[in-house]
Amino acid sequence: MSMPVGVRPKSLHLYIRTFGCQMNEYDSLRVRRLLAPLGYETVADIEEADLIFLNTCSVREKAEQKVLSFIGALRRLKERKPHLKIVAAGCVAQQLGGKLLNRFDHLDAVVGTRGVGLIAQVLEKIQKTNGRSVCLPEENPPVPDEDGREMFDSGDLTAPVTVMQGCNNFCTYCIVPYVRGPERSRPAVDILHEIECLEASGVREVLLLGQNVNSYGRGLSEDTTFAGLIRRIAGETGITRIRFTTSHPKDLTDDLMGCFAEVNKLCKHLHLPVQSGSNSVLARMNRRYTASDYIAKVERLRSICPDIALTSDIIVGFPGETEEDFRMTMDLLEKVRFDNLFSFRYSDRPGTKAAGFAEKVDPEIGLQRLIELQAYQAEVTLRKNLAEVGLVREVLIEGSSRASNGQMSGRTTHNRIVNFDASPVLCGKIQQVKITGAYSHSLKGDIVGRVDVYMPGK
Ligand code: SAH
Ligand code: SF4
Ligand code: F3S
Repeated sequence: MSMPVGVRPKSLHLYIRTFGCQMNEYDSLRVRRLLAPLGYETVADIEEADLIFLNTCSVREKAEQKVLSFIGALRRLKERKPHLKIVAAGCVAQQLGGKLLNRFDHLDAVVGTRGVGLIAQVLEKIQKTNGRSVCLPEENPPVPDEDGREMFDSGDLTAPVTVMQGCNNFCTYCIVPYVRGPERSRPAVDILHEIECLEASGVREVLLLGQNVNSYGRGLSEDTTFAGLIRRIAGETGITRIRFTTSHPKDLTDDLMGCFAEVNKLCKHLHLPVQSGSNSVLARMNRRYTASDYIAKVERLRSICPDIALTSDIIVGFPGETEEDFRMTMDLLEKVRFDNLFSFRYSDRPGTKAAGFAEKVDPEIGLQRLIELQAYQAEVTLRKNLAEVGLVREVLIEGSSRASNGQMSGRTTHNRIVNFDASPVLCGKIQQVKITGAYSHSLKGDIVGRVDVYMPGK
């Protein structure tokens, strides 16, 4: 029976689960944009799904295990709902390819990290043939500008925007260059256009993404740098706030540091992973800087922008890490006093150089080091949060507080979460909030005034 003219087809339900980093968040957003014109609408309840899209991460063994057990647990849902399609994409999919289909016979398709732009074609194929598909393009796809972003409104106030993909650094512990391929930058015009579309749909803050944004511009025909890109975004778009991640310390330029002082729209927060405070560990990690190079950069940055918030990543228990090496990491933490830290126990990743290193650290010792380091940092983070009490900070109101106590929540320029009483109509607005209390992971405060729109061009 044909459908009467003017009646929209029944919408299909898409459930997305994103593991891992913001690169995957961005790819999941692209999938939503690409599938929206086919009638897919995102749902929060997996039971309602017609299509499950999993964006997977393999950065550490634990992350990969989590993905595999999640996929395994979907078998029963598929048995109950045979029409359900399940697609696994992202870094585990890239790494395991067809092996993932062999392992899970309820999985319909595997899509590699370079195949996200082909999601509609993959779906059509598995639906038409009722078969299974592996999509692992070897070629780097063209810049993703095909995906109907002009039409798409995610309803979000903050959005990721990829400025570059892949990585050429080959830190010896890291799987990313293998699963994401070589570094390539996206032309500035395309980035600016995407940000304008996001802004038109109500987005106020963008998070510029790349594994090493500081090398943005290499290989592009136009002569541009990451600092240049930030200035253009600030000057040529109406977006209110700009953040970015991640920076490799060896490539952090004075020009980029200068942006924190000059560009009002750029949030005063830098994530600068150091990984270790021991020079011999850093050398074996192939990080190409020493602990004192790192500290010198931090000092320079703080002289340019004294109140910048600094966060970092640390790996403990890297092969060959001695007690003395670990003490050097603790010394570095004491010297720098990070606002926050993400710390991990080293995990062997198949195919990486470090996986072949002898002298693996006893996992128990690794765990003890992690516990000590995290306890130290928790104290520093809390002290830094307590130092905010009494200050007035600009907060972008993003939505209801996680505590679901009727409060609203937002973030300061330094990336601290603040909860406060406010009307939901203030969502998307920047307000002055006086900080009245501090905890380990958040602050509380009271709205004391509104902030006018930033001066254009700054
Ligand atoms: N491109 C980003 C990091 C990507 S991975 C950067 O260079 O900063 C995020 C973090 O995971 C890394 O900074 C590192 O601290 C951690 N990590 C990566 N591989 C790891 C491994 N094999 N074991 C433990 N931690 C790892
Ligand atoms: Fe991995 Fe190093 Fe590249 Fe970051 S810079 S993605 S840690 S190889
Ligand atoms: Fe994980 Fe892939 Fe990101 S391995 S951290 S999702 S690039």
